[in-house]
Amino acid sequence: MDPRAHPTPAAPALPERRQLTVMFCDLAGSTALSRQLDPEDLRAVIRRFQEVVRVVVAGYEGFVSQYMGDGVLAYFGYPVAHEDDAARAIHAGLGIVEAIRTLEPPLLPEQSGGPAPVHIGISTGLVVVGDRFGVGASHEIAAIGEAPNLAARLQAAAETGCVVIAERTRQLAAGRFEYAAPMHLELKGYVGRVLAWQVLGTSRQRSRFELTHPGELTPWVGRETELEHLLARWRGAGAGQGGVVLVTGEAGIGKSRLVKELVRRIGGTPLHRLLYQCSPYHTHSALHPFIRQLENAAHFAPGESAASRLDKLEALLAASSPALAQATGLFAELLSLPTEGRHPALPSTPQQRKVRTLEAMLGRLQELAASRPVLMVLEDAHWIDPTSSELLDLLATRAADMPVLIVVTSRGGTEPAWLELPQASVLSLERLTPAESAELAGRVATRSPLAEDTLAQIVARADGVPLFAEELVQAVGAGLSTRDIPSTLHDLLMARLDRLGAAKEVAQVAAAVGREVSRQLLAALLPMAQRELDEAIETLAASAVMLTAAPPAAPLLSFRHALLHDAAYASLLLSRRRELHGTIADALERLEPERLRSEPELLSHHHAQAGHALQAARYSGAAALRALERSANLEALRHATHGVDLLGAVAEGAERDRAELSLTMLAGAAHRAVHGFASHEAERCFARALVLSERLGDVPSAVDVRRGLFSCHYARGELALARAQGRHVAGIGEQRSDRAARMLGQWMLGVMSMWQGDFRGARDELALAIELYVPDEHRSKMLAAQIDPGVNAMSHLAWVHWILGDAEAAVQTAGRAVQAARDLGQPFALAMALFFGCVVRGCRGEFEAAQPLLSELSAVTAEHRLSFLGTCAHVLRGQALIETGACEEGLRELDVALQEFGAQEAGLGRPWALAIAASGWQRLGMREHGLRAIDAAFAAVERHGERHWEAELWRVKGELLAPSPQARACLQHAIEVAQRQSARSLEQRASETLARLHEQGAT
Ligand SMILES: Nc1ncnc2c1ncn2[C@@H]1O[C@H](COP(=O)(O)OP(=O)(O)OP(=O)(O)O)[C@@H](O)[C@H]1O
Ligand SMILES: [Mg+2]
Repeated sequence: MDPRAHPTPAAPALPERRQLTVMFCDLAGSTALSRQLDPEDLRAVIRRFQEVVRVVVAGYEGFVSQYMGDGVLAYFGYPVAHEDDAARAIHAGLGIVEAIRTLEPPLLPEQSGGPAPVHIGISTGLVVVGDRFGVGASHEIAAIGEAPNLAARLQAAAETGCVVIAERTRQLAAGRFEYAAPMHLELKGYVGRVLAWQVLGTSRQRSRFELTHPGELTPWVGRETELEHLLARWRGAGAGQGGVVLVTGEAGIGKSRLVKELVRRIGGTPLHRLLYQCSPYHTHSALHPFIRQLENAAHFAPGESAASRLDKLEALLAASSPALAQATGLFAELLSLPTEGRHPALPSTPQQRKVRTLEAMLGRLQELAASRPVLMVLEDAHWIDPTSSELLDLLATRAADMPVLIVVTSRGGTEPAWLELPQASVLSLERLTPAESAELAGRVATRSPLAEDTLAQIVARADGVPLFAEELVQAVGAGLSTRDIPSTLHDLLMARLDRLGAAKEVAQVAAAVGREVSRQLLAALLPMAQRELDEAIETLAASAVMLTAAPPAAPLLSFRHALLHDAAYASLLLSRRRELHGTIADALERLEPERLRSEPELLSHHHAQAGHALQAARYSGAAALRALERSANLEALRHATHGVDLLGAVAEGAERDRAELSLTMLAGAAHRAVHGFASHEAERCFARALVLSERLGDVPSAVDVRRGLFSCHYARGELALARAQGRHVAGIGEQRSDRAARMLGQWMLGVMSMWQGDFRGARDELALAIELYVPDEHRSKMLAAQIDPGVNAMSHLAWVHWILGDAEAAVQTAGRAVQAARDLGQPFALAMALFFGCVVRGCRGEFEAAQPLLSELSAVTAEHRLSFLGTCAHVLRGQALIETGACEEGLRELDVALQEFGAQEAGLGRPWALAIAASGWQRLGMREHGLRAIDAAFAAVERHGERHWEAELWRVKGELLAPSPQARACLQHAIEVAQRQSARSLEQRASETLARLHEQGAT
């Protein structure tokens, strides 16, 4: 460790939510001391103690928050996070123990030989940090959360001279340390025992990757080109053409894993493998990675005497070559081992010594390469010290004609000079593709496979960084949601944000807006000058936290990683988030009014997060309406339901009622589109809406609500109930001379008249409705987004015309309806018009002409999930099949349709569909089946008074009963019914059937 004095970085202006590692450090036996020592001497002891702690903590870039009598409280992860704060705290703890143990003169008179008189406790967790308590000189900065309390308890439980850490801290520090047996402590304020660990020391030197990946690795995914490049370079080195490869890429992208895979693939060949690991704590310690490698190669043991170490070093070098043995003195000095005159005197100037040392290092490499090819890996060159960098330069230059491949990994930063060399190449690792990420995530989750949508969320949030994908899978496996940030990534992400300095606040504010934000909006949200903001944005782009999009989207900035976005957002205090969301909502309304129309859900989100439930609910309504207008029915349902949920937080009153009314109407409209018009969900919504509109005395909305109820009853075939709604609406229209309401009322009544078998009445009412219809006006009504009453009236009128005997008018009106629906561009209206168009063609026996209409109907209903009309299309297909001779197939279609009607609670049109089925059975000669269908149809007629196809039912029954006298009675009854209803076409059909059967002598 090289404890350098680090200037304390500026603390963030506002308190933040952060993961923090907290260390409590206490001088042991101070109560006893206070009795033994003069207060002035005691003061001197405490001051020395605090100074030691301060220096060591600063060396690991920790932050001393408070000196409390004989104790010190330090934070790691504030004001600036490091990816390895947990490890830093433990290193510091061990460092403090060691520094006090070896202090000269000893801290306490009776200390010599015994353990260092200090207890240390360390714990990690989420805190709110940054509130300043006390004024003036005191710079106490509070961290509020569990971690400080637990650290204090662990400190109290630690033996003298020991560091005890919490389980969470141990998980984050991974395999970097060695521990005594687990401790199960009973601590004040905790239920049950708390798992904790006493740290023994650092793990044996290995690469950082190996220390942090003690278990099994995720099976290799992708990166074949990169691996092939390394293998080719290795083969070249084997043939005497050595060189150096720089592997670069951001943290967690897979640099170390790539090297590991290279090692695995060349595992069979004899080679020397040298590992040099740079360290973030030793960026200023000359040759640190090389010293550590030597210590490791010589098998130094912790606590071993200098003499024994020198012996080991001598043995190591002698085994290499006599030439190297010459340089033992230099190596010994490097390892701080006194040689006691056993080796020749060293050159006198530091510069000469350095040159000789580097040459000796090169010599060592050459010696090794003489026996076998060498793979030299230098990990994490972004932390390399200047002398090591110089040495690497030398080795890279000389590698060209040696069987040596040097692989250097780095997160980037300054480009090394040796990159210019012809024997140098670069591999820049890019993100994995979504497919590769998914494969990797799938392989991590071997024990319990991930649900498809969980996997998709993980892939999206990992953004192609393997480390993120792995940690997200682990976090989900441990019960976290895919929205949480795994604690293992917390410090890494926070470190990237903290490095931004003043630009961090810009990132935090941007995070509250979303993953993407416009410059203009940011400028409105931040109280800073344009120039300052531009600089901050430049910093954000340069540090790869945010991307500035290329033109034409230039004004937009976006977070480079979903997780960086989440981390920036998560660091904001909840209170600050609320305040920001409010400001953002206001700014959006002011600056980007087009967003109100195009993305009302965005405004809803910000208002909701700001605690403005009513506004949020209204925007959800706008989003639902927009979705309905585009027939995005499921989305509409989600927005509307969410809006109603939001209202839960709003006080009762007219405003709330109004908002709920509009949302329940939208929810009803969405329900009937998704679940069918007859669905009980839709009816519940409209029933609730009726209560609200009556409570508010809001007549126009009552018209809409009744229209909603009308269509529920309509689809179920509850004709009387549907007619009642029509009468209400027509009444409102007359009373208020409201053309729109009159139109709607006439339309509802006309439609009901048709199904009830009053065809003349239907014709007049529907014709009046069409006359009163003003397309734009009616379209603006909410429910018209689904059913256009004009198109609907024309569609029904077409069938009425045919029944009344005017086949030409029928075809014409049906054509008008289809055209009007196309002009409106409403899928539901179109489906409705197509359906009646097909019906009319079918009545005329023109099944071929109906075919294109039917195909289009099937396509539209499938695309927009129009369940009721989709089922009606089945009936039509069945009818066409039956009438063209494919009776069995046709009956199968009808069977499907009748079952679907049942599932949708739909009843309307049942007698019609059953009549078609019955005639199918009759053609097949399966009279019993046919009669059963007719009986079911009559039951439906009687239940709801749906008489519009009654004549046809009697006619088909007559055919089924022929030859028999009953057949005649049925047909005569059919003619009577048709005459009563003025249904000339149906009367004619029945008369023709009667004549035909009579001729055949079947009556
Ligand atoms: N191609 C891959 N196939 C399977 N797992 C991978 C792959 N690449 C990376 N990983 C896994 O992703 C994690 C991060 O990889 P690695 O540690 O190599 O990243 P790094 O680039 O070296 O990061 P750092 O800059 O922090 O050293 C590791 O657990 C590693 O096993
Ligand atoms: Mg690495």
